[in-house]
Amino acid sequence: MCGIVGYIGNQEAQPILLDGLRRLEYRGYDSAGIAVMQQQKISVRKCAGRIDKLQQLTDASPLHGSIGIGHTRWATHGEPTDLNAHPHTDVKGDIAIVHNGIIENHAALRRHLEAQGCVFVSQTDTEVVAHLIHTLYRGDMMAALQQAIRMLSGSYALAVLCESEPDVLYCVRLGSPLVVGVGQGEMFLASDIPAILPHTRDVLILEDREIAVLKRGSIEVFDDLGARKTPAPLHVSWDAAAAEKGGFAHFMLKEIFEQPDAVRKTLSAYCGPDGLQEMLPGAPDLVNFIACGTAYHAGMAGAYYFAQLADTESAAHIASEYRYRKLFPHANEAVVAISQSGETADTLAALRQAMEMGAHTAALTNTLGSTLDRTVSRSLLTYAGPEIAVASTKAYITQVETLLLMAMDLGLRKGKLTRERAKELLDGLAKLPEKMESLLKNQAYLQQYCDRHMHEKLMFFIGRGMDHSLAMEAALKFKEISYLPCEAYAAGELKHGPIALINNGTPVIAICTQESLLEKTLSNLRETKARGAETICVCPQRFAERAAREADIVWTVPDADELLLPLLVMLPMQLLAYHMAVAQGRDVDKPRNLAKSVTVE
Ligand code: AGP
Repeated sequence: MCGIVGYIGNQEAQPILLDGLRRLEYRGYDSAGIAVMQQQKISVRKCAGRIDKLQQLTDASPLHGSIGIGHTRWATHGEPTDLNAHPHTDVKGDIAIVHNGIIENHAALRRHLEAQGCVFVSQTDTEVVAHLIHTLYRGDMMAALQQAIRMLSGSYALAVLCESEPDVLYCVRLGSPLVVGVGQGEMFLASDIPAILPHTRDVLILEDREIAVLKRGSIEVFDDLGARKTPAPLHVSWDAAAAEKGGFAHFMLKEIFEQPDAVRKTLSAYCGPDGLQEMLPGAPDLVNFIACGTAYHAGMAGAYYFAQLADTESAAHIASEYRYRKLFPHANEAVVAISQSGETADTLAALRQAMEMGAHTAALTNTLGSTLDRTVSRSLLTYAGPEIAVASTKAYITQVETLLLMAMDLGLRKGKLTRERAKELLDGLAKLPEKMESLLKNQAYLQQYCDRHMHEKLMFFIGRGMDHSLAMEAALKFKEISYLPCEAYAAGELKHGPIALINNGTPVIAICTQESLLEKTLSNLRETKARGAETICVCPQRFAERAAREADIVWTVPDADELLLPLLVMLPMQLLAYHMAVAQGRDVDKPRNLAKSVTVE
């Protein structure tokens, strides 16, 4: 979703802003722009389309100055046009702002401002903020911002330039993330950490309603009433290379290949020489997961693990549904929010609902310092490193891994899992990265399959139990990056309707990791074959012979404990989606209409 960058220092701002915007491209956007203070005057360059187009504009007409702000916009109010692109300015053009989030009362404010003579040039909610600040400004931007944020409802991260205060960059947030990178005699602003990593790893994460005043050599933070605050900077261990492609054609492919290492790091973070850490506080007898998209699919796998290993009732919920559902308090319930970014609006809202209901809450996130990480008292991190591709791969795998470890820890503490079985699983997990590496070495067969099937109209992914969650994740990967219509179904449900969609040659991929359900799923696969489907079974080596009796094609992964197989079978599924998207010439890392971090409802 939209991205913000800002710079104040002694270097030329324009190249730093453009580079920062490129690093935020993965968030998803459809227009971009920058504003730079040039000899005490604000100048703006902006356009619909990609940053390359903005670069052409700035090459033709460069901006010189050492203070500036930049933005990538993901359209919500008004189409992606040059005029709707940020930065937006007030009538006179002496205040420029960039904004992430949604101003919910923009229509009322617009009427109020128009009545005062403000002339609007865009359809955005953001332009309202530029005019509002301008009408409130009486020579003191702090005071104007304090007043403005009292009048705004919705969510925002704002960066503001003002010609009357040409050596200051202001910013404020509510609900949308904003981080300040602290350099030597220079400050960087961004909506997330990867954009500032090449410059500094010392970051300060703004809290809701904090106003930061950035000067070349200083940063001051105030609350919305003007009281000074002294937040401590955070040192980020990720390096800049972790957020670069490193020779891979796409971030997604690089991130798929980083998974063995991510699994190693996550395991060693939670399991030391003394065994597993206590992960979830207490011993809940009901565990609910709330999440969106891929993180929800990880939650489905987590629910399966909690039932199997901790004998604990557990379910995954789509956050956007959970937040509007009637909730029933339970005496000993834990609600765990799962989110790669830690900024997903629906997940955060659902978490607040759970908190209000009195549930014990915890978080599982990949992003240290994210809103989610800071909202709960127990935050568990996944150690996947920065995930840039919109399609989540390594974050998902480490989420599933961490949920497995959480379930094991609870199972051990509740006496539902024996030490021997836990050791077996931990030993298996330690060996998994090697198996993943061997699996990643051979992907030619998947590439060839995609080259042959790139004109498919529909694909099916099926599975039962845990495998249903894997089928849903595999289908989501396909949809989001190849745009190929896919159905993911619990295998037993096919005959209740969706089987009508099967045509001659429709690919049906069955994921089979569980011995007890293998024959059932294979028989469902047989039913689709009888109706003309081309059937594929993805399974461990030890099921290959049985699978080959039913499926046209069998793709195997190395043998492993049944509960660890989800971490293996998802690799060929991710690669299959990747190669299909490449075969179709899609923008793999930045699929149409999608954003990496979904910060609006
Ligand atoms: C994953 O491939 C998707 N792009 C998307 O479903 C994502 O998982 C979802 O938006 C949730 O994001 P989060 O993990 O950052 O909360």
